[in-house]
Amino acid sequence: MVVLHTINDCKLWRKQQISTVGFVPTMGALHDGHLSLIQTSKKQCSSTLVSIYINPTQFSKNEDLSSYPQTIDSDLKKLKELNVDAVFMPLDHEIYPKGSKKSFKYHNNLFDKLEGRSRPHFFIGVTRVVSILFDISRPTHTFFGEKDAQQARVIKKMIQDLKYNIHFILCPTKRDKNGLALSSRNSYFSIEERSKASVIYKSLMIIKKSIFNGEKNAEKLKNIFIAEIQREPGFVVDYISIACNESLNELKIWQPNSLISTAVFYKKVRLIDNFVY
Ligand code: PAJ
Repeated sequence: MVVLHTINDCKLWRKQQISTVGFVPTMGALHDGHLSLIQTSKKQCSSTLVSIYINPTQFSKNEDLSSYPQTIDSDLKKLKELNVDAVFMPLDHEIYPKGSKKSFKYHNNLFDKLEGRSRPHFFIGVTRVVSILFDISRPTHTFFGEKDAQQARVIKKMIQDLKYNIHFILCPTKRDKNGLALSSRNSYFSIEERSKASVIYKSLMIIKKSIFNGEKNAEKLKNIFIAEIQREPGFVVDYISIACNESLNELKIWQPNSLISTAVFYKKVRLIDNFVY
């Protein structure tokens, strides 16, 4: 496994690849969710490149950029064990050289929904860094997790809109045994807190059960979710959404194949989860 620190080294490595290249962008603090994307890439592509870069432009000033978990040694160990071909770990000044601020102005109509309403800066920063990383690594395939459902849809659309010649592959959400979606931010919690945080997935599954039992009114389904979450002290719902899986527009009445997604604060940590039903 080669560890690449500069854009030049990454471009050189890319030039040496003669067949398909799978690219998995991450912010590190790798867990089994990340590793499942990498394993899928390894199955589908001749070589796999993973990036580890905590992208400052997708955090607002009052978010957790400075405390975002960093576990570089164990990340590299995990990647080596998986036989990843290359890891790209760039520094801020290479990704964002002085004066680069206004060079990228992509926007699509999914930006301002759901996550974008609570975190207006988020998709501006994510699309900016992902497009920079695509330009450097020129992958044939890229792998994103359904855990960040809106991010995946935004990037898929960006690939189409900007005519990147990249196959986009969506990978399922990996969870703890109790249902909690794996996330780098779970490391902020104790084992007991993680167990409590499984209330998010359990409450999403109560929506699923209610739909199965015949309730289709989105408002009522959302209230069922909120009531369920509130039974556990310390959890505050940022939003719960039942939306069209493509446009991400809110639905008044549930329809099959909707995206049901939520963001919940627990101990000031913002956790997201979703399912399609
Ligand atoms: P990060 O949160 O590190 O996630 C990297 C990739 O792993 C994303 O595609 C995400 O959806 C996927 N992932 C995270 N948790 C997962 C889980 N439990 N199951 C399956 N996949 C999971 O998402 C980002 O980084 C950044 O926004 C990034 C795209 C790297 C741009 O900075």
